[in-house]
Amino acid sequence: MSQLLARIKNFLREDNDLHEEVQVLRSRIDYLEHRLINYYRNRWDVLDCVADYLVNAELLGDYAEFGVYKGTTFGYAANLFHSLFRQMRFLAFDSFEGLPEPQGIDKSPEGFSSGFFQGQFAATEEEFCRHVMAAAPHLSPERLVTIKGWFDKVLTPEYANKINLQHLACVWIDCDFYESTVPVLQFITPYLSVGSVILFDDWRCYRNLANFGEQRACREWLENNPQLVLNEFISFGFHGMSFTVASVPEVR
Ligand SMILES: C[S@@+](CC[C@H](N)C(=O)[O-])C[C@H]1O[C@@H](n2cnc3c(N)ncnc32)[C@H](O)[C@@H]1O
Repeated sequence: MSQLLARIKNFLREDNDLHEEVQVLRSRIDYLEHRLINYYRNRWDVLDCVADYLVNAELLGDYAEFGVYKGTTFGYAANLFHSLFRQMRFLAFDSFEGLPEPQGIDKSPEGFSSGFFQGQFAATEEEFCRHVMAAAPHLSPERLVTIKGWFDKVLTPEYANKINLQHLACVWIDCDFYESTVPVLQFITPYLSVGSVILFDDWRCYRNLANFGEQRACREWLENNPQLVLNEFISFGFHGMSFTVASVPEVR
């Protein structure tokens, strides 16, 4: 068997054209494996659909992700969107210290464990930027904005002004806890347009119960903002759910 393999290798080495074809084929197989078997594949699939949707909707605005970790989802989004939407900025919000200590209903959701713990998903800002620039090598760095801090402290209207936030075309919320999601939803409200996409990565992470995590935060947000209406969009994986905004509060 090893002799046969050696003969094939020699044969390929001698035939340059064939050697090149094999290399191309190998890189395609590597790409397909990476794309189809990867843990993140359902996130990448939904982002592909969102890209089509945003092009069709002719919607302008930034991409914002709340909870970015090492930037695997963020980098894919940036690589996909940056050439389609030339004005789009890519806003990364994170403590860059991992999850905060679970508080209140996040601590012990009705006797079962959410599995999330303090310090989980810690990655530095530098590590995040390195991963994103590797995933989206043609993204010009000035379109990447990182905002470091705890959401309940940093997500203020003053900070939104500081980064000149105008419109959000696509918002990815992936911060695991109810307590982390509440300030995010409050923060994004004035910047949503009819048609904006909101993706909740952890929608079903608490046994798909409506009283916990992102589902609870979203329900309360809608109750507090009666003019805000969401339409169901795409469900992804066992965990994620997305919506498009159907109506926004009139006054900013
Ligand atoms: C599951 S990870 C994000 C994964 C990332 N979206 C991806 O797809 O690779 C959750 C992130 O939320 C951040 N996070 C959670 N609660 C936060 C809070 N209250 N303030 C700041 N960052 C928070 C954590 O630091 C962590 O990086």
